[in-house]
Amino acid sequence: MTAAIDAVGLGRRYAGPDGDITALSGVDLHIDAGEWVGIVGRSGAGKTTMLQLLGALDRGYDGSLRIGGVELKNLKDRALSEFRNGHIGFVFQAFNLLPDLSVGANVTMPAHFGAGMPQAEATHRGRELLAQVGLPDVWNKRPLTLSGGQRQRVAIARALLLRPALLLCDEPTGALDTKTAAAVLELFSELRQAHGTTLVLVTHDDEVKERCPRVLTLDGGRLVADERRPL
Ligand SMILES: Nc1ncnc2c1ncn2[C@@H]1O[C@H](COP(=O)(O)OP(=O)(O)OP(=O)(O)O)[C@@H](O)[C@H]1O
Ligand SMILES: [Mg+2]
Repeated sequence: MTAAIDAVGLGRRYAGPDGDITALSGVDLHIDAGEWVGIVGRSGAGKTTMLQLLGALDRGYDGSLRIGGVELKNLKDRALSEFRNGHIGFVFQAFNLLPDLSVGANVTMPAHFGAGMPQAEATHRGRELLAQVGLPDVWNKRPLTLSGGQRQRVAIARALLLRPALLLCDEPTGALDTKTAAAVLELFSELRQAHGTTLVLVTHDDEVKERCPRVLTLDGGRLVADERRPL
């Protein structure tokens, strides 16, 4: 699958104690397969809400959202999780590494869910990705023994394991120094060129924003700017 994204009138409301909270509303958006798109906006603007929708983590939306032509709200639970595991990679703020498993087991985890990558290949690719993010020696360690920036890189390696058609990142370089952040962006860029991966990333970082050929700005749950520029 290649992951083009089509949203029409996309919105998300959450039930609050004093009525609904509108986290996102009226978003019309097309993203081509293989595009690299940044999302910016102040705290509470709806950025994470948007990523959760694009990541098939949340079907409770208004309007239409298609990824690779598939309307996500029409999928049943199991089909939705298969879709997610097969096509989407995540790098989220909390990293979500499993503390009782080694780094190696965390990174190769996506291969265990019927994704069609044999264990030997997963191990090989996992080791290669860890080396690419500057962590050649952590395979047997537990995530909790690593620094925040190291954990973030483990989460990035895990997200790239299955070469997802769509890679979604929430502040992917937030815990990284400038040099490591540049290496991670380079890795994303290579993946995109080699596999046509669609990249959507939320960032507050100007250097990351500079790398994005297209930048969306959210404000109060609305898409208020959609800028493209030559790099
Ligand atoms: N599960 C939820 N239940 C109720 N309200 C929510 C929920 N998730 C988000 N919201 C509200 O929706 C709005 C958008 O939140 P969101 O997390 O998408 O913002 P954000 O742009 O990612 O902010 P930040 O930069 O701080 O991460 C906020 O007003 C938030 O309080
Ligand atoms: Mg957020």
